[in-house]
Amino acid sequence: MPQEARVKRAIERETAWTTNVPFIKDVLLLWEPCDEPSVDPDDVLLINCVTQQKWKGPAIKQIEGKGKGVIATMTFKKNQIVCDYHGEIISKQEGEQRLETLNEEPSYLFFFKGKAGEPLCIDAQKHPCDCHPDQDTYGRRMNHSRRNCNLRPQRVSLNLQDGARECVVLLTLRDIGVNEELLWDYGIRRSSFGGEGSDLPWLDD
Ligand SMILES: C[S@@+](CC[C@H](N)C(=O)[O-])C[C@H]1O[C@@H](n2cnc3c(N)ncnc32)[C@H](O)[C@@H]1O
Ligand SMILES: [Zn+2]
Repeated sequence: MPQEARVKRAIERETAWTTNVPFIKDVLLLWEPCDEPSVDPDDVLLINCVTQQKWKGPAIKQIEGKGKGVIATMTFKKNQIVCDYHGEIISKQEGEQRLETLNEEPSYLFFFKGKAGEPLCIDAQKHPCDCHPDQDTYGRRMNHSRRNCNLRPQRVSLNLQDGARECVVLLTLRDIGVNEELLWDYGIRRSSFGGEGSDLPWLDD
């Protein structure tokens, strides 16, 4: 269930709502998780894609004003996995320490909660990664959009050859056409972290 403060913020963002604005307590009372696409932890195809970092459909391209980005080279249906956010899995604390040592943008750290709610981070800063020295992986090259996102990150557990691993895959939010840029909402705003991102106008995209 979402926290009260999160519901409050979501309601406040709906600035066009003037009448019948829902009460936070009612939202919490009626809240139900949305249907998550179920992922088989032993899905051989998915495990191969994650292990080899060979995904069909995404391609990295230079995007004006954004550096590199990822586009679709084929159509995707809603709720399809496009790729994972590949990198080194570390604790949130370690991720925050590493973030501190980075002097400037861009950063390639993804913070999330593991299966048991443990705070984790995927560090994709190192390029190329040690495990795929000849590749540029897709997750780290995807740009942000709050308004036009067509993907969302989803945590999954996979039984890889060297044991169970927490992974984050990027799932389509809707059908996607060829040449569309693949975008997800980083979930941070200019006001996040005490306004630290206030000089990053692209966060408003
Ligand atoms: C995880 S990286 C994404 C890939 C990056 N564009 C690259 O060339 O490697 C995040 C960085 O991409 C850029 N970025 C992400 N979304 C953007 C957007 N909507 N507009 C402009 N730049 C964006 C910012 O520099 C951000 O720090
Ligand atoms: Zn790798």
